[in-house]
Amino acid sequence: MPSRIAVIGSGYVGTVVAACFAHLGHAVTGVEIDSEKLSLLRQGKAPFHEAGLDDLLSAGTSSGGLCFTDNVSLAMERCELVFICVGTPTGHDGHPDMSATAAVAKKIAPNLKGYHVVVVKSTVPIGTGRWLRTLIEDHLPAGYGPDHFSIVSNPEFLREGNAVQDFLYPDRVVLGGDRPQALDLVAEAYRPVLDGDFPKGPHRPGSVPVIFTSTTTAEAIKYASNSFLASKISFVNELAKICELVGADVTEVTAAMGLDMRIGGQFLDAGLGWGGSCFGKDLRALIAIATRYGYDARILRSALAVNVDQRKVVVEKLLQHLKVVSGARIGVLGLAFKAGTDDLRDSPAVGVCEALLDHKAVVTAYDPMVPTGAGPDGVLRACDAIAVAERADAVVVATEWPQFLSIDLSALRSRMRGRLLLDARNLFQPEKVQAAGLEYVGIGRSQPGERVLQSA
Ligand code: UDX
Repeated sequence: MPSRIAVIGSGYVGTVVAACFAHLGHAVTGVEIDSEKLSLLRQGKAPFHEAGLDDLLSAGTSSGGLCFTDNVSLAMERCELVFICVGTPTGHDGHPDMSATAAVAKKIAPNLKGYHVVVVKSTVPIGTGRWLRTLIEDHLPAGYGPDHFSIVSNPEFLREGNAVQDFLYPDRVVLGGDRPQALDLVAEAYRPVLDGDFPKGPHRPGSVPVIFTSTTTAEAIKYASNSFLASKISFVNELAKICELVGADVTEVTAAMGLDMRIGGQFLDAGLGWGGSCFGKDLRALIAIATRYGYDARILRSALAVNVDQRKVVVEKLLQHLKVVSGARIGVLGLAFKAGTDDLRDSPAVGVCEALLDHKAVVTAYDPMVPTGAGPDGVLRACDAIAVAERADAVVVATEWPQFLSIDLSALRSRMRGRLLLDARNLFQPEKVQAAGLEYVGIGRSQPGERVLQSA
C-alpha cells in the first residue's frame, strides 16, 4: 500500500529521500523554500550533483508520483508521514544549530490535523525527540492533542556521491520511537527496501535488517556510526605517521589488517583525513554532548585533533623536499572533499590550497567536477589534470579521484620544473611514478629500497 509522504527540506538528504521514496512507489511531496532550487526540482533536476538522482527526479516528477512545493501546509494535507530533512550545522559551542529544525516544527504543528508521524531524518542531538514533542505540542491546532501525532527518529547513513545507492541498498534501517503503530507505518514505507524488491529496479535477494529502538538510541546510533568512521580514519592516519618513522608501509599494513573480519577493509585509507559536512559536525556534537554530561570524550577529541593536524602534512613534506615553498609553483589535483562529488565543504584539498597560499606558493588546481567559479580565492584553475604541472615544482594529489590514475605521468614530468609527486591520498603505485622519472612521496609509504617486491 503506497504511503503518502511529505519531505520537508530538499537539500543533499531531503532530495534523495523524496526521489527514492517516489521510486519505491509512494506519493511524495517535497518542500523547498529556495525559489531557484524549487524551480530546478520541479523540472526534475537536482540543485547539486548526486549520481543517479536526476534520473529519479525526472521519472518521479513526470509520473506525478513526486512533486515539489514551498508550502508546508499543502504538503501536510497530502500525507501521513512527514520527514524532517533540514540542516543541523555545527553551532558556536560544538552543539548542532537546531534553529531550522525548530522553525520547521512550528510550521508542521498547526497542520497536524488528523494522525501524522513526524519522522526526524536530520542528524539531531541525542535526546531531541522529547524536545521536539514538547515544541510541537505547544503549537498544535485547537482541538488536537498529543495523541494526534507520533515522533520517529530515522537517521540517514547516506554517503555523498553514493546516496541513492545507500538509500535503496542500506546495510540497515534504524527506526526509533515509543509507539509501535508509528514505527510500523514508517517501516511499511521502507518495505520495498527491506525486502530488496523494488517496483522498478534491480532486485536484491535477502532482506535488510530494520532496527526498532527508542528515539534516543536511534539518535545515538547515528552519531556513534559517524564518529567511529571518523575515528577509524584518524587511527589509520596516526598509524601512517608511525609507519613513516619506522620504515613500514601503511598501505600494506592496512591491507593485512582489513582481512580481519573484525576490522574490515573499508575506511582504512591513510591520506589527508576526512572532510565533508558530516564527520566533523557529528564528532564535535558527540564530544559536546558528552561534555554537557560532564564526561571528557578523550578518544573522540583525539580523533578530531589528529584530523585537524593531518592537513598540515602536505606543507610539512613540501618544506622537507623543496626546502623553500614561498614562490614555488604547486599543482594540486583535486578540490572536492572526496571523489564523486563537487562538494567543497570542509574539504582537506581546499585546506591544503589555503595553507600553500599562506606560504606564498603559486597554486594551480584542477578538479573534474568542481566548477571553475568555485574553490578557494587565489588558486589558479587548470583546464585539465596535466595543466597543473606547467612549470610546477611539485604536484600534489589532494582528492582521490580515480581518473587521476590515467594521467600520463611522463607527460606530467615533462611539463614540470621539478620532479616531486606528493601523493597525499596514496592513490598511485610508487613504482609507476618513479618509472616516469618523478620522485614519489606518499602518506605513510615506505621508501623504494624498503619495499619487498610482490611475492609470486
Ligand atoms: C559520511 C558517512 O559515510 C555517511 O554514512 C553519513 O551519512 C554522512 O557522512 P560522506 O561525508 O558523504 O558520508 O563521505 P565519506 O564517504 O564517509 O568520506 C568522508 C571523508 O573521509 C572524505 O573526505 C574521504 O576522503 C575521507 N576518507 C574516507 C578517508 O580519508 N579515508 C577513508 O578510508 C575513507
